[in-house]
Amino acid sequence: MQLIKTVNDMQDVGRWFRGECKTIGFVPTMGALHEGHLSLVRRSKEENDRTVVSIFINPTQFGPNEDFEKYPRDIEGDLSKLSAINTDVVFMPETGEMYPEGFSVSVDMGAVGKVLCGASRPGHFNAVATVVAKLINVVMPHRVYMGQKDFQQTVIIKKLVRELNADTKIVVSPTVRETDGLALSSRNMYLNEQERKAALILYKALKLGEELVLSRGMDESGLVKKEMEAFIKTEPLAKTEYVDIVDAYNLAPVQRVIFAAVICIAVRIGKTRLIDNIIIEKG
Ligand code: PAJ
Repeated sequence: MQLIKTVNDMQDVGRWFRGECKTIGFVPTMGALHEGHLSLVRRSKEENDRTVVSIFINPTQFGPNEDFEKYPRDIEGDLSKLSAINTDVVFMPETGEMYPEGFSVSVDMGAVGKVLCGASRPGHFNAVATVVAKLINVVMPHRVYMGQKDFQQTVIIKKLVRELNADTKIVVSPTVRETDGLALSSRNMYLNEQERKAALILYKALKLGEELVLSRGMDESGLVKKEMEAFIKTEPLAKTEYVDIVDAYNLAPVQRVIFAAVICIAVRIGKTRLIDNIIIEKG
């Protein structure tokens, strides 16, 4: 496994792979890797000749009161996990390498970056889009692998790639969950035992929403939202930030739950903010 720290070296390797007619799969991450991340790496390995994983905790996508300083870091653990599954290249730049003195360019994603998580995290998705655009220019991948877990992020990066005419394809892979249904997340580390149990309310609420639509024929999104919110209230440690039902393509709110709609939720469990979603599809 090759460890690369500079933009120049990464671009040299990307160019070399392309020159050899090797397809490049790319998995951008912020480290603290778990099975959710590794599922993306495995899929990339199956579908490409070479797989590059980036580990970069992008400071610009954290708000002033967010967890940048205490975001989990485990470089040694990450590298051993990636090496165990035969990752070809790990790109691990320092902050100054990605944002040199005087850096000022930013991508503006417009309305899709201002709804759902964007409503409480101003600037977050513009910062995500900016760093992913840079990483795509550095790694030059044929395919970029992203998790459905961060559904809004996938919609935003697809739009970014489409509208900037980037020569790559975004591949979205299913959310990896614990056996009880909790979506894997680096932030699950913050939960104590009691909160870990309470966190299951997210998945249960999504399954309730799905059942209301698919089995009980409730198609008015306002009603589905209300039932889900009431259900989340039954968990004393949980505080709903939003429950929204949106169009899977452009994240616009839907009045009626038609296909494909996505139910997206953000819930605070104690101090930890967790997100999850479910795509409502005709079974
Ligand atoms: P990070 O939170 O580290 O996530 C990296 C990738 O792993 C994302 O595409 C995310 O959706 C995916 N992922 C996380 N949990 C998952 C799960 N349980 N199942 C499947 N995939 C999962 O998302 C980011 O980093 C950053 O915003 C980034 C895109 C790297 C830009 O800085």
